[in-house]
Amino acid sequence: MKKITFPEGFIWGAATSSYQIEGAWDEDGKGESVWDSASHTPGIIKNGDTGDIACDHYHRYKEDVQVMKEIGLKSYRFSISWPRIFPSGIGKVNSKGVEFYDNLVNELLANDIEPFITLYHWDLPLELNKIGAWESRKVVDAYVEYARFMFNHFGDRVKKWITFNEPLVFAVWFYLLGLYGKKDIVGGMKASHLVNLAHAKAIDAYRTSDNNDGQIGITLNLSMIYPKTDSSLDNEGTNIVDGLINRWFLDPVFKAEYPSDSLDLLEKNLDYPPIPEADLKMLEDNPMDFLGINNYSCTRVEVKKPEDLQNFFKLLLPKRAEKGVEVSDMGWEVYPEGLYDLLKRVNKDYGHPLIYITENGMACKDNQIINDVVQDEDRLSYLKRYFEAANRAINDGVNLKGYFVWSLMDNFEWIEGYSKRFGIIRVNYDTQERNLKKSALWYRDVIASNGFDMESL
Ligand code: BGC
Repeated sequence: MKKITFPEGFIWGAATSSYQIEGAWDEDGKGESVWDSASHTPGIIKNGDTGDIACDHYHRYKEDVQVMKEIGLKSYRFSISWPRIFPSGIGKVNSKGVEFYDNLVNELLANDIEPFITLYHWDLPLELNKIGAWESRKVVDAYVEYARFMFNHFGDRVKKWITFNEPLVFAVWFYLLGLYGKKDIVGGMKASHLVNLAHAKAIDAYRTSDNNDGQIGITLNLSMIYPKTDSSLDNEGTNIVDGLINRWFLDPVFKAEYPSDSLDLLEKNLDYPPIPEADLKMLEDNPMDFLGINNYSCTRVEVKKPEDLQNFFKLLLPKRAEKGVEVSDMGWEVYPEGLYDLLKRVNKDYGHPLIYITENGMACKDNQIINDVVQDEDRLSYLKRYFEAANRAINDGVNLKGYFVWSLMDNFEWIEGYSKRFGIIRVNYDTQERNLKKSALWYRDVIASNGFDMESL
């Protein structure tokens, strides 16, 4: 039996996001978000599910903090619902919304759990969608004012900030899927740049706020990209996908530039407009303190004929894994080595940054329950193998300081509604009862001993 031990002070956590757990969608003055609107539009979400009630965390946050304490979490990553703070995105502050997060932050601190806040996890105020969402510089300005308010109000107690969660998903995939209206990929790629600009401007606002002695970074969903075979087409495709999925998001926030091969591709094929120098300067002047990585799987690229390279956006859409490969209930390949390779790669290519894994976890069927405990051996085994891969990367010099399991509890899985369960805590949606799953009980022991025993692999 091999003992896996993590460095002292390693931050063990779990993550959630506002729309996925809070519920109370129109309570206490909250404004509508794009997700309220999407889930209330028939045909978008599986089974017609909505986040109207979700895990009712808005009313049960105290109980939820107690469950976190039971597991021994050192930190809790959650996101703020922007329209709870500014119902129309800008203008008048909703004091009741602020009060909710004040209570949550204070409750966490009173229980020795560090709050790790994501400012934006996709629930854009609907009013801002009407003026162009992330394609509009007005929305960038509104975001910066919202961020500034948050830093000034919460900065005395909150020392870890994430500007955005997964720009690739909300700025590119949602546009590719047409979730914000018409399918418009050029719009999506333009939006991704304005999100980077908003990120840099928020860092600027943080550095000049009253309590700027914490850390601020961004969370990207990164994935190791592998060619399916050794063919030159697969290799070329891999480079294109790596450019658009990984480097397009990493390069601007680390190097204040966009990858030239991806930029060429977009300019030649899609008439992508030039990026203003002033925006790049803003990125250059505002380096971040850490990178948050969300990683669940890896991507394998197969290009059957040369024409497919032209249709490169198709290569980007998430794909189901091959038959016979171990997958999660989402159909995503389980491949811990992909996390190891990814951490090493980011470490090497981006100057040994401080990294937190801000999400990693597995959707499972969870259909075996004994004495109220879900027997999620599959999730437990997944976490064990991914933790081991992260541990190996640390031993090989990667500056990884924390790990947040996705998710603290079962929740609203976007277009999949409640059909997928990611939690280490089971939520009974009829009674809102919470129960620790077997994986949570194991995680509790991992945190307590800062490591675990690994059977030979
Ligand atoms: C997101 C979460 C989501 C999870 C599982 C990430 O892309 O940040 O909100 O629930 O993956 O799909």
